[in-house]
Amino acid sequence: MRKIAVIGAGQMGTGIAQTVAANGMQVILSDIDLATAEAGKGKVEQALVKLAGRGKIEAADAEALLARITPVGDYAPMAEADLIIEAATEREEIKNKIFEAAGKVLAADAVMASNTSSIPITRMANHSPDPARFIGLHFFNPVPVMGLIEVIPGLATAQETTDRVTAFAEGLGKQVVLSQDEPGFVVNRILLPMINEAVFVLGQSTAGIEDIDKGCRLGLNHPMGPLQLADFVGLDTCLDIIKVLYKTTRDSKYRPAPLLVKYVEAGWLGRKTGRGFYDYSGEAPVPTR
Ligand code: CAA
Repeated sequence: MRKIAVIGAGQMGTGIAQTVAANGMQVILSDIDLATAEAGKGKVEQALVKLAGRGKIEAADAEALLARITPVGDYAPMAEADLIIEAATEREEIKNKIFEAAGKVLAADAVMASNTSSIPITRMANHSPDPARFIGLHFFNPVPVMGLIEVIPGLATAQETTDRVTAFAEGLGKQVVLSQDEPGFVVNRILLPMINEAVFVLGQSTAGIEDIDKGCRLGLNHPMGPLQLADFVGLDTCLDIIKVLYKTTRDSKYRPAPLLVKYVEAGWLGRKTGRGFYDYSGEAPVPTR
């Protein structure tokens, strides 16, 4: 694959664009308009400036990487893409509209993938022009750093499609876990109940934010505690995923923690809004409870 289109220039989309461009491929990056796509490329530039400052990338390589990312304001240029990766907001109706619109320009031999963290691939495939060429390709945040990509074929996905995206993912230097199209796939099915349970523990005042995170960092050797990780992922995204698990399985073990719902209702969505379980307005994050 030589040219990849990424739809959605947020945290995940820009991370995917950076990783793909770092591996020598051309990237078409889009969002709701050209200005938002350009701002997404700006975020990649900021990440590269940081890396260059720490001597992790040569200035010339960073420049070449950036030059491989082309922000666009519509889907027409994606007719040239070998693979279109949707990395938009975790809302099924938004994603379906994207598959329908981008599907109009999808080349006859190209693949369409969704970076969804939990929405069924088989169902979304019906909104693409060819379910045999539709698949789940789930990246982890921060994409340039994390070593895993989940590959999730839907019921109608052709083996050739699975093989092609697996080769693409491995070509990015990542390892692949193949998951059946079940709610939450493999990793989020395990991670989200843990994050949700941490919020229950907080809500029941069993321990405070710092101790819950410290417990998991030191007791389980996790790089981040579950509440810090929830802020990192975005509390709205966490709630969306746990809601999908709850709705699709109807198993009460996935019921969202009331405090998680409250934080999202308050607009305290984590790092991206400057406040979640921690306050990010100062130099170091400060627990809010
Ligand atoms: N591009 C390239 N490299 C980058 C980078 C970027 N944008 N950002 C950071 N890095 C590199 C740094 O250069 C550094 O490299 P070295 O180790 O070689 O020096 C390394 O990544 C670590 O970066 P930092 O030193 O800045 O930060 P850290 O040591 O505190 O680690 C972290 C930060 C990698 C995020 C770590 O805390 C961590 O692994 N946290 C857990 C992340 C996690 O669990 N992610 C999954 C979330 S779930 C998900 O994504 C799925 C979903 O659907 C919800």
